[in-house]
Amino acid sequence: MPGVNTIAFGGDYNPEQWPREVWDEDVRLMLEAGVNLVSVGIFSWALLEPREGEFDFGWLDDVIEKLHAAGIGVSLGTPTASPPAWFWKAYPDARPVNRTGVPLGFGSRGMASPSSPEYHRAVTRIVTELATRYGNHPAVRIWHVHNEYGAPISDDYSENSVLAFRVWLEDRYSSLDALNAAWGTAFWGQHYGEWSEIDVPRLTPSVVNPAQQLDFARFSNDALLGCFLIEKRILNELSPGVPVTTNYMATSCPSIDYWKWSQEMDIISNDHYLTASREDAHVMLAMDADVTRSLAGGKPWLLLEHSTSAVNWQERNIAKTPGQLARNSMAHFARGADGIMFFQWRASRSGAEKFHSAIVPHAGADSRIFRESKALGNGLGALSSTLGSTVRAKVAILWDWESNWALNLEWRPSEDLSQRRQTETFYTRLWRDGITTDFAHPESDLSGYDLVIAPTLYLVSEAASANLDAYVLGGGVFVASYFSGIVGVNDAVPAGAHPGGLRDVLGLQIDEFRPLRAGQSVTLSNGLSGSIWTDDIRPATASVVTTYEDGPSAGGAAITRNEHGKGTAWYLSTEFDVAALSDVLDGAFAEAGIVIDPTHDENVETVVRHGDGETFTTYINHGENDVTIPGDGIDLLTGSSANPLVLAAGSVSVVRRPE
Ligand code: GLA
Repeated sequence: MPGVNTIAFGGDYNPEQWPREVWDEDVRLMLEAGVNLVSVGIFSWALLEPREGEFDFGWLDDVIEKLHAAGIGVSLGTPTASPPAWFWKAYPDARPVNRTGVPLGFGSRGMASPSSPEYHRAVTRIVTELATRYGNHPAVRIWHVHNEYGAPISDDYSENSVLAFRVWLEDRYSSLDALNAAWGTAFWGQHYGEWSEIDVPRLTPSVVNPAQQLDFARFSNDALLGCFLIEKRILNELSPGVPVTTNYMATSCPSIDYWKWSQEMDIISNDHYLTASREDAHVMLAMDADVTRSLAGGKPWLLLEHSTSAVNWQERNIAKTPGQLARNSMAHFARGADGIMFFQWRASRSGAEKFHSAIVPHAGADSRIFRESKALGNGLGALSSTLGSTVRAKVAILWDWESNWALNLEWRPSEDLSQRRQTETFYTRLWRDGITTDFAHPESDLSGYDLVIAPTLYLVSEAASANLDAYVLGGGVFVASYFSGIVGVNDAVPAGAHPGGLRDVLGLQIDEFRPLRAGQSVTLSNGLSGSIWTDDIRPATASVVTTYEDGPSAGGAAITRNEHGKGTAWYLSTEFDVAALSDVLDGAFAEAGIVIDPTHDENVETVVRHGDGETFTTYINHGENDVTIPGDGIDLLTGSSANPLVLAAGSVSVVRRPE
């Protein structure tokens, strides 16, 4: 980011919710807390364009000047996630319609129909005005487009959407014959004779054609991306050199294919909120951060939002414990974030989010939360030498939104199938073993990884199938779990036995799926147990590593291993828990040269960022005991020598060492 030469720190700043007297106190407190970047204007459309085509930028001019005078940079929001009341009155057809046919009203926030020409026109006008006025302002460091595309909803069943879906399909298939073949419309008499007969997959008496649903998910993703691109093109033209981003929800927005979006982003940024009900929320945080870094192609990225303490939208909004704010923030830093930002600067007094935490809570600056935020901000100020350093991983988990969309459609062999849960389980095993992990698209270059894991990767395209084959032939170690490689891009089963997309690489065929009953477990010949699934496997070139002792596939293969070219491919036909995966992955780890540090403490999250001739290792002690870490180096947060480093319970250190 131009003009930012240390780790960015700050949050969403909504001065329009406060009288001007508060603005001076805001800036004073921001400086005290080490804030150097704030996101402004995200929901300000109604104030900036109070009537259609009439603009009032006076207040925003004043806010930006005040911040600039204090040396605080601006991440300038485009307010297009919340069109004003006049827009909805004038253009009611721009409202999104839900699957049951109900148009959604004004009074909260969220998308307009992403396919509405009126919305596109209004977006073009306000973004052009903003970019013309502020595009070259020295305080503007970054453009924050819209807000969390895909939330609160991502599907639109309006007439605008129907028309746009047909255009999208014509573009994808060129001919109706091709569409009929791809969708398998011979089934249940769904053949189309005219483009105008095709509808969005609204509520129907039974299950809608799965290929149609999958294409609608792709179309919905592309429609939102199209909205982003309208804005991005204007901003790049009128504000050259200022990077454009939009805030992702990396693993918590199932409807957006962020691999695709990331090709269009100048800088990747993410929002993350803990699921307070989960004991392992910090592991899920790490997974979210690793997905974000992977989307950034291994380059640094920004955490644009997280919370200082409780959110307001979960069943029970649990406050963070002392020190948790720093641990959470520094886990994002450890995994490559070059900016640590919060929602939001000052807690609102009105509106739906008034019970959400902030840097300045309702209690004001004389509060634990402000003090912890300030300590964090000032600590990050000591990390400028880490800026631009990167994280390296030898293991990748395959992550594909399209496969997830397809798997989550109706009428699968078991409702217990979940790519997400399987991914979490494998990731947790690696996290506990202290192994830094990337996420990768199945069609991406995998040659830099020693081990690649495919957790229930249901949909495997022909390109992905060839890519995985080449990866193993070239010497890679590949582990696939059950119900992977079952369908191609149209949710159709390829010719021959399962798993069509992975049959060669795994060296086996599956004659029948044999899912388990709810709560049922099976015992394996190595003494471990599995759940959810088993298969009737017929090995071809694969050898059987472990068999089933009981259950529907008793006597048959449970785990197989296939030597394929210079590499090996393992198949796990049942679900293992995190503990069992230690044993199950042992062989694959050994073949891939992955060594677990015998001194590694599961409570100490340890991640290395590589700089120019030096490394920065973040240690986060999630445990209740102090831990001593041997080795030399400088603890950047305290400035003292770290030989050895005594890491107090709950604390964080960043140690610089020569590479
Ligand atoms: C999201 C939004 C913010 C705010 C927070 C609350 O991340 O982007 O505007 O609503 O959630 O947690």
